[in-house]
Amino acid sequence: MSARHSRITGTGSFLPSRRLSNDDLARRLAADGIETSDQWIIERTGIRARHFAEPDVASSDLAFEAAQRALAAAKVAPAEIDLIIVATSTPDMVFPSTACLVQRKLGVSGCPAFDVQAVCSGFVYALTVADAMIRTGAANKALVIGAEVFSRILDFKDRTTCVLFGDGAGAIVLEASDTPGIVASELHADGRHVEILCVPGNVSGGSVLGDPFLKMDGQAVFKLAVGVLEDVARSVLAKAGRTEADIDFLIPHQANIRIMQSTARKLKLPADKLVVTVDEHGNTSAASIPLALDVAVRDGRIRRGDTVMLEGVGGGFTWGAVLLDL
Ligand code: UT7
Repeated sequence: MSARHSRITGTGSFLPSRRLSNDDLARRLAADGIETSDQWIIERTGIRARHFAEPDVASSDLAFEAAQRALAAAKVAPAEIDLIIVATSTPDMVFPSTACLVQRKLGVSGCPAFDVQAVCSGFVYALTVADAMIRTGAANKALVIGAEVFSRILDFKDRTTCVLFGDGAGAIVLEASDTPGIVASELHADGRHVEILCVPGNVSGGSVLGDPFLKMDGQAVFKLAVGVLEDVARSVLAKAGRTEADIDFLIPHQANIRIMQSTARKLKLPADKLVVTVDEHGNTSAASIPLALDVAVRDGRIRRGDTVMLEGVGGGFTWGAVLLDL
């Protein structure tokens, strides 16, 4: 019996239409006496703009739009999908899962649908789970989505975090295939670092108990991210029996251009192999990798047959990488 693999057959993404430049955001913060500048944000992060969803738009709405685009690209009808996984840290509701809400919006029922919570590593976690389920025969055509409305958990009085994040969604269709697709992947977590990136509040007794805003020790996250992104990329390459030279495109989590460029340098990859969307999207957490993948597929940079390294890192602390042949 020949081995079963999984392969991406379509990508899609969606950004809310409201775009805020750094200057737009700086003006908004200035109204509350908070000082920031376009120059600081660009120099420290590479971010020029981000998109914020309107108040009545939820993660499932962004996910649904991205999913429809991925399905169209893959030429797959919603009814053919037999697995839906949504990576999100900003679900519409405490429960049910955002994946169930997306399933309903797609007008289908019956297939398993669930969320994965691994913050900014969410998409590589979800993709790895979907790949495993396809390889075992538990699914044939999966919809894997990263969707976030991080604007809802930002404290606009905290300039060290609120300038960094944005809203959006990215999706892929992953199908069973005789040839790999997903070549190798690896996931990690280290719960000792829970406090350096978290939203500590929870819903209890009819109200929010504790702080409902994102808290981050930026420098601690930065240091950990730079280390693990290099290590996990090397480890996944070794697992796949490949080298840095085999990577056509690197798509790291889009949080900070300095972290991304440092990873690319360590892997000896030239600048044109690094896909960058953090400038226009900000950090969209679990959505950032599939959003960047879709941008680079649709602008013609990434083509069928290219080898792509996806790398996630974020709260938990979590990290992971997926090496794939498109
Ligand atoms: O999504 C999960 C992964 N997340 C990440 O990878 C984020 C990792 N961390 C980072 O990207 C960076 O640490 C930040 C972008 C968050 C911060 O950059 P930094 O170079 O580490 O800056 P810093 O925290 O050392 O702050 C430098 C200065 C401070 O002022 P003093 O103490 O030097 O006077 C801050 O108060 O910049 C100040 N500052 C700001 N100034 C203007 C912090 N935020 C701002 C701001 N505007 N928005």
